Amino acid sequence: MEFNFSDKANRFKPNIFNILNERKADMQARGKRVYDLFVGTPDFKPEKHVMDVVVEASKDPENYKYSLGDTKELIDSVKKWYARRYDVNLESNEIMSVAGSQEGFAHVAMTVCNPGDLVLVPNPGYPVFEMGPYLNDAEIDYYELDKDNHFMPALDRISEEKAKKAKMMIVSYPLNPTCTCADRDFYVKLMEFAKKYNILIVHDNAYSEIIYDGREGISFLSVPGAKEVGIEFNSLSKTYNLTGLRISFAVGNAEVIKKFKTIRSQFDYGTSYIVQKAAIAALDGPQEGVKKQCLEYQKRRDALCGGLNSIGWEVPYSEGTMFVWAPVPKGFETSDDFCMQMLENTGVLCTPGSAFGNLGEGYVRFALVLPVETIKEAVELIGQWLKKYYN
Ligand SMILES: Cc1ncc(COP(=O)(O)O)c(C=O)c1O
Repeated sequence: MEFNFSDKANRFKPNIFNILNERKADMQARGKRVYDLFVGTPDFKPEKHVMDVVVEASKDPENYKYSLGDTKELIDSVKKWYARRYDVNLESNEIMSVAGSQEGFAHVAMTVCNPGDLVLVPNPGYPVFEMGPYLNDAEIDYYELDKDNHFMPALDRISEEKAKKAKMMIVSYPLNPTCTCADRDFYVKLMEFAKKYNILIVHDNAYSEIIYDGREGISFLSVPGAKEVGIEFNSLSKTYNLTGLRISFAVGNAEVIKKFKTIRSQFDYGTSYIVQKAAIAALDGPQEGVKKQCLEYQKRRDALCGGLNSIGWEVPYSEGTMFVWAPVPKGFETSDDFCMQMLENTGVLCTPGSAFGNLGEGYVRFALVLPVETIKEAVELIGQWLKKYYN
């Protein structure tokens, strides 16, 4: 039978990720070493106390039933965590779990957008910021993030017409892929902008605990008035190395959370009890591991950024996230071309900036997912290759 797939389905083509993955497999099959700094999956382990809870919970048959929602214990843990960590007081009806922020972003536009309604998304930005609204038939408009403006949105450059039309705006700091952070003043301005134009702000706070040089991750909700205009996703994936468990929280405006819960109840019967218990253990348990891990990421950042600068590749030091955003060295046509050539010549694999929007072109993103010593080896190989390349 021949299927006529939908226009939406047909939009998704094999992309540079698939191509690079194939090249990686091909190199490995040829016995060549690949330094995989491509995907943002932490190589750190979950804490033992979290894994122990999962093991125990998995032995109880009751935990295999539909949960149909979040337990009071889970909601209380999130409340305590937000109060402790950001000094933000949340009510129970301002909290819900989602199956990862990725899933949350894929569906959240449904809360306020009819087909054709406008959503403002960052360019460059994390792909689902654009794909979520697209999947929900919203219209997408990009706000440009410019290096000269510290990759911050220039709110005063968004036209009155566009601002009035927008129903939702997606914002995220520390931002994947630019690795820059926002200060409290920015969030105040964002809240005022949203209030003036009646725009739902959806802030992604995936990297508030991976932030460097003494900076502190901020919750958008810590700005007075933010709960009136927005919600925030806060994922346990990177903070606690639980990427495969799929748990994140949407917190903030009670009406939006209520609507989102109602929508999600149409396609989800609740977060697994086992996962809920793991999240409680992570949120309530000792937090030293989170800080230690952040320092380890910082050492990796120093090894990569310091190393690349020492071989003459000028790369800014990331302020936050588990990534490094590096301008493509001179002489290469595109970020795709550079990544392919670097992989072939050195075995080092990173992501072309074009995967994060057209304004990501001219950059590549490295994920800090290898130990310091291995990163140093990778830098050495890149140095040797670039030296030959320019001679
Ligand atoms: C900025 C950002 N948001 C969300 C996600 C997805 O998080 P989750 O595992 O909670 O779906 C990622 C994963 O890399 C990310 O980088």
